[in-house]
Amino acid sequence: MLTELQKRRTFGIISHPDAGKTTLTEKLLLFGGAIQIAGAVKSNKIKKSATSDFMEIERQRGISVATSVMAFDYRDLKINILDTPGHEDFAEDTYRTLTAVDSAIVVIDVAKGVETQTEKLVNVCRMRNTPIIVFINKLDREGKDAFDLLDEVEKKLNIRVTPLSWPIGMGQRFKGVYSLYEKKLVLFRPHGKQEEEDLIEITDITGDSLDKNVGKADADTLREELEIVQTVYPEFNREQYLSGEVSPVFFGSAVNNFGVRELLDCFVEIAPEPLPRSAEERIVNPEEEQFSGFVFKIHANMDPNHRDRIAFLRICSGKFQRNTNYLHVRQGRKMKFSNPTSFMAAKKTVIDEAYPGDVIGLYDSGNFKIGDSLTEGEALHFKGIPSFSPELFRFVNNTDPLKSKQLAKGLEQLMDEGVAQLFTRELDGRRIIGTVGNLQFDVIQYRLQHEYGASVSYEPLFIHKACWITSSDETAMKELINRRRKDIARDKHGQLVFLAESAWALKIAQENHPKVDFHFTSEF
Ligand code: G4P
Repeated sequence: MLTELQKRRTFGIISHPDAGKTTLTEKLLLFGGAIQIAGAVKSNKIKKSATSDFMEIERQRGISVATSVMAFDYRDLKINILDTPGHEDFAEDTYRTLTAVDSAIVVIDVAKGVETQTEKLVNVCRMRNTPIIVFINKLDREGKDAFDLLDEVEKKLNIRVTPLSWPIGMGQRFKGVYSLYEKKLVLFRPHGKQEEEDLIEITDITGDSLDKNVGKADADTLREELEIVQTVYPEFNREQYLSGEVSPVFFGSAVNNFGVRELLDCFVEIAPEPLPRSAEERIVNPEEEQFSGFVFKIHANMDPNHRDRIAFLRICSGKFQRNTNYLHVRQGRKMKFSNPTSFMAAKKTVIDEAYPGDVIGLYDSGNFKIGDSLTEGEALHFKGIPSFSPELFRFVNNTDPLKSKQLAKGLEQLMDEGVAQLFTRELDGRRIIGTVGNLQFDVIQYRLQHEYGASVSYEPLFIHKACWITSSDETAMKELINRRRKDIARDKHGQLVFLAESAWALKIAQENHPKVDFHFTSEF
């Protein structure tokens, strides 16, 4: 059990769309031998041209079940990559997936720098101090100056960095990278044609060897730049990386398969094994004998004739076994699973056992909600699967009064899947749906109609943020509720939420009600 556990590395790759996440994922899988042909992952990707067509996106999402978890073996390790949907409309899915990883690789486009989606996702990682490695991609193109870019990463992502490799030129003049980690010069050849002789060991960069390989001018620039690197950035320290304080940075070009092996080789040495997970009751250690795990994602089948869903469970401790009774903690009953699935890029296989760090798919007919836990009997409730404030809100109206029951059921199930968040306004009981992307509203309307036979229309509603509110002072809470009745709602668990019309309205409410705490996630 202990060796199985020590072999696991479970991580996610995050980026702003188009920075190169899919390409990098694919190259990693090729190294691990999990796929043979380039393009295998890519064909599962949501096509850019289809962004306005939500049906196409849902269809692609169906295919992408297979890429939800991609496992491969590399140097005696079992590596699990959890796919984080890049499309901004599915940001909630990505946020939750990040609760199931032990570390992350952030891909940044050298020309575009830190983009909005990257910022949001890194913020989520930082909530749990998830260790992060940064990969700066597309060095074969002209981009920002490396020092400026690192400054930008530090400022916008609010992390300290330490470069473990350094580029020699970029774009047309890109010659390769010098690995500070392995003290090696890696020469660039386009189209993934890197060979063994392109790896040159140079422990002393003051010597001739560097000049011979990259030319005097570039060799001098590299020496100067490395001197600055060594004075400005801290020396790499694994403890600081593991505690999420400092992120090592690599440079490369994913599409050319350049710098990817260096990244992977360092990753397998420094990335954390499955980490302990916090439950409300206690900290759960992966070495514990008793099995436990939580559901972080639910994938519904789009085909109305097959209502089955797949619940994705991250194993936190002990060994999971097929056909064994486990406690579904929220429902308080035992369940066993005859077809638990594991995922090897594009291939699903039924498994007999799984270990901490692994993610398995459980066929579900509607028993699971995001955040549910399975154990051998202990009542554990895992923390760290919060809801974030949605960014877009609309009132939802029932347009077929005869189908209210179907509507209620449909809304409940879709919310359990985590498609969007539902709030009920205290003042008049009106229902409000909150999402991260516009497309989700179309998806919900379509699915309610086709899967539940319910029809809805939307009404615009301008809300800046939903904040969960709590207070130890009952009178202060009552005062806020009475004064701001039309801005108060309850989430699906009945927790009180303040719907702020603007950043200004939120600030005023916070000032006027100092004894009430305003929280930006549902977990506090
Ligand atoms: P994503 O998953 O983060 O959205 O990005 P993806 O890997 O799909 O990459 C986005 C585009 O960037 C792709 O081009 C891909 O080929 C390109 N790309 C990835 N890595 C590099 C790199 O190191 N250098 C350069 N120059 N380009 C890179 P595309 O035209 O959108 O798709 P395709 O037709 O090439 O497949």
